[in-house]
Amino acid sequence: MAEDIAKAVARRRTFAIIAHPDAGKTTLTEKLLLFGGAIQLAGEVKAKKDRIQTRSDWMKIERERGISVVTSVMTFEYGDNVFNLLDTPGHEDFADDTYRTLSAVDSAVMVIDAAKGIEPRTLKLFEVCRLRDIPIITFVNKMDREARNTFEILDEIEEKLALDTAPITWPIGQGKTFAGTYHLAQNAVRRGDAEAERTPVHGPDSNRAAGLLPDNERENFIEELELAREACRPFDHDAFLEGHMTPVYFGSALRNYGVRDLIEALGAYGPPPRDQEADTRKVEATEEKMTSFVFKIQANMDPNHRDRIAFVRVCSGELKRGMKAKLVRTGKPMSLSAPQFFFARSRITADEAYAGDVVGIPNHGTLRIGDTLTEGEAILFRGVPNFAPEILRRVRLGDAMKAKKLKEALHQMAEEGVVQLFSPEDGSPAIVGVVGALQIDVLKERLSVEYTLPVDFEMARFSVCRWIEADDPADLQRFVESHRGDIARDLDNDPVFLAQHEFSLNYEAERWKAIRFKAVKDYQ
Ligand code: G4P
Repeated sequence: MAEDIAKAVARRRTFAIIAHPDAGKTTLTEKLLLFGGAIQLAGEVKAKKDRIQTRSDWMKIERERGISVVTSVMTFEYGDNVFNLLDTPGHEDFADDTYRTLSAVDSAVMVIDAAKGIEPRTLKLFEVCRLRDIPIITFVNKMDREARNTFEILDEIEEKLALDTAPITWPIGQGKTFAGTYHLAQNAVRRGDAEAERTPVHGPDSNRAAGLLPDNERENFIEELELAREACRPFDHDAFLEGHMTPVYFGSALRNYGVRDLIEALGAYGPPPRDQEADTRKVEATEEKMTSFVFKIQANMDPNHRDRIAFVRVCSGELKRGMKAKLVRTGKPMSLSAPQFFFARSRITADEAYAGDVVGIPNHGTLRIGDTLTEGEAILFRGVPNFAPEILRRVRLGDAMKAKKLKEALHQMAEEGVVQLFSPEDGSPAIVGVVGALQIDVLKERLSVEYTLPVDFEMARFSVCRWIEADDPADLQRFVESHRGDIARDLDNDPVFLAQHEFSLNYEAERWKAIRFKAVKDYQ
């Protein structure tokens, strides 16, 4: 059994794609699934988005603004590996959702538009990956269009991200003349989906390499390749795993170039599920007992059923259908009667899942983001982050009779991570907080459609929110007592300090040295 688990764990690769909008994340996702046999025809990922949009009312917002609000999980196999691809919302207003998802992956693919290079959102997401030491494989996309010089692209990655690059393939031509990629170490050419294997060649000047280019580009290609061999760093697997180096692949997701190389790279170099730090010890992925944590909750996966799915990343052992797990936060047992895998097209019932797998657990509000499930051990995984909201609003309800319903609805949505909910100590109405303005729109729409609660949001007198902590509880108590009108409690009953603006926060921080004002809180 231990051997089975070790084998299953070694096969798994759990990753996300990070990219600036429009770089080609959706197209690449589609092609990865296509190559992995998870979908029959390209176009399914977008088609699926459209279907959900027409079926679900609250997602009107998504349709209107042309953004993807939903995060999904897709599992596919290729070669000997099982891949779990965790999709993240493209819009930055849902950044906290993306960051939480990144807490559940072992590696990431960074997609760069070959003409645009490193764009702001790529940089931001890269920084989150770096904080977590997530190894990154780079895919330079859209080589079939006008692209920057290959050396320039590599230089930009090195400079803007302070990350060493190791090109594994080199583009043969670009734009109209883009004809495939040359594998530097193997001296082999791959032209696109048509070639499952790379064709070995004697060198870049071969007919099957430079010969693919028009006469006037051949010399340049051969010279570039020689220079690349001399000037570029060789790939160092350890440096990659430590997050210091990225292997770089070139291609065109749209035209199926470079995609197979990328999947193979994830299989060959991508790390298997990592050991996971818990509060009292490190949990090894190959341990026999099941442990897992919830990194996302999603309501309305299927609008016909009003269900709520907790996305759970397995950290060790075997999560089996029908098993009894312990929900560590409450200490209560929970029966995992219908865990689900998410394939691209449908949900199917999973019988067992191993470290690295992401499983959907349907529930009616038992599970929260950050929850740990085990086979009995009382450990808590840390590291699913909660970000201090940047927008704070009071909820104004038209119909006072519905106050209780509103409270319940807000509570549920806070547990799903749609908003954060703060109850002021002085008994005034609840304050909701979000990281991006669009989240307020989603909240409003969902309160109206799902709960028939017409609400408005009004400015709160606060604009900054920080969790407060102190080593000595007496210090915290003193601070809370002398700021009662500015203190609220979050969903876990942890205190936050609400400030009118940054200036007043800094002022208090100067005066109260014993208090730590925290912009990020790990879910417990
Ligand atoms: P995103 O999820 O990162 O936002 O990007 P997406 O895949 O939706 O791609 C953005 C646009 O870039 C799409 O065009 C897509 O077809 C195009 N694209 C993606 N990869 C490549 C590539 O390798 N080469 C070329 N030439 N184009 C690529 P669109 O016109 O905005 O959308 P669509 O109407 O074609 O779907």
